[in-house]
Amino acid sequence: MPEPTRSRRVYLETYGCQMNVADSELVGGILHNHGYALTTELEQADVVLLNTCAIREHAEQRIRGRLGSIRARKRANPDLVVGILGCMAERLRSQFLDQERLVDIVVGPDEYRKLPLLVENAFAGEKGVAVRLSRIEDYDDIVPLRTDGISAWISVMRGCDKFCSFCVVPFTRGRERSRPLGGVLSEVRDLVGRGFREVTLLGQNVNSYRDGSHDFADLIGEIAAVDPLLRVRFTTSHPQDMSDRLIDTIAATPNICKAIHLPVQSGSDRILKLMNRTYTVDHYLRLVDRLRQAIPQVSLSTDLISGFPTESEEDHAMTMELLTRVGFDGAYCFKYSRRENTRAWSMEETVPDEEKGRRVTDLTRLQQAIAWEHNEAIVGTAEEVLVEGPSRKSERDYAGRTDTNKVVIFPHRGEQPGTYVRVRIERANSATLFGSVVQYASAEGGTL
Ligand code: SAH
Ligand code: SF4
Ligand code: F3S
Repeated sequence: MPEPTRSRRVYLETYGCQMNVADSELVGGILHNHGYALTTELEQADVVLLNTCAIREHAEQRIRGRLGSIRARKRANPDLVVGILGCMAERLRSQFLDQERLVDIVVGPDEYRKLPLLVENAFAGEKGVAVRLSRIEDYDDIVPLRTDGISAWISVMRGCDKFCSFCVVPFTRGRERSRPLGGVLSEVRDLVGRGFREVTLLGQNVNSYRDGSHDFADLIGEIAAVDPLLRVRFTTSHPQDMSDRLIDTIAATPNICKAIHLPVQSGSDRILKLMNRTYTVDHYLRLVDRLRQAIPQVSLSTDLISGFPTESEEDHAMTMELLTRVGFDGAYCFKYSRRENTRAWSMEETVPDEEKGRRVTDLTRLQQAIAWEHNEAIVGTAEEVLVEGPSRKSERDYAGRTDTNKVVIFPHRGEQPGTYVRVRIERANSATLFGSVVQYASAEGGTL
């Protein structure tokens, strides 16, 4: 390990989904192993890395904007190394170096092992691009650099083979591959030993996980068995891979959380077909029925896209109708953004931007009313909450989450982060529950 790199400081900023957050922890681990220190102060950094997202045009614009402010830093310190990582790096590759002169290195999601070398070369004045996608890279042997806490993200699979016609992910993350079950399990044991109380298993299609004869139901079952006080979450599930075995495992295992993010994208069969989503509205509704039958308290959330090419007012009305029929606890609604290389790239855009915006507002308003109604129904009940720490708005209040992933705010009377408390819910809005602690769930702090 070359001596001069020892004291160099890296500032790392993350955009996009939780998988990017988890990747940033991997990058932190790789750089730490090579003698770099991480800093949270851009002003103190010798290396600035942006881990980027390419899912929508807007995500890329934000990153371009951020590069503007980094340009001023580089003027003040011409030795500063600037690197672009992640999905936008993979999408634009060497174009990035031509478009943004201040960028020194461009590194895609499957090439992070090369970072120390690329950074070293950049200090010597050599620009570098590493954007090969891999069919096998899973970083299973890399220990992510995590600050101790309550909750950890764990990537269990990478890439995506679904090729939804709007989506850039298969091009930026490559083919689907899963980590060995044993590797994930030992990471979980280590986290439990360090005091973590919640793990979220991550993948673009987490429920298509496979290691030899083991599927996602096996993986999540074994992880939940590590410690009954550990909460186990997972995201994102594709409706097509939601097997009965998986549903039964979730239902039968108390510490697998009863919250499922199940993106539906549209309530119109015609649009779903154009999107290459591989299910119909009827399939989806039947899946929701099976979930609710097996897990009556299950909380469901979803993603929706408005303004996909040819989406008509009737198609939009069908999506509104689907929201009402399913009764989700939450929905993320996005304006369709046309992405290069995807199948929908060649489809003519037919919905003007303002109209996409209006549809997104329609969906969001309806969803808020539904979520508010759901949360109102919880008022008066007592919920088991994993204490996270001070709330964002007031130090006197603490925040935690229910098993169903709802945020609960309560006055702090000495509760410790990482313990379980029972909170009587006194009021609610569409996003948050408010209440007060009625009793500790147990002396040990858990009765899961
Ligand atoms: N793998 C996950 C989602 C990954 S991206 C899944 O399949 O469910 C997160 C969400 O971004 C998607 O569910 C979709 O709603 C949205 N999204 C993806 N590509 C988009 C695009 N081109 N325009 C607008 N929204 C998009
Ligand atoms: Fe994109 Fe579809 Fe894969 Fe999700 S399943 S990452 S939306 S291609
Ligand atoms: Fe964005 Fe890449 Fe995640 S495109 S949403 S950071 S997989």
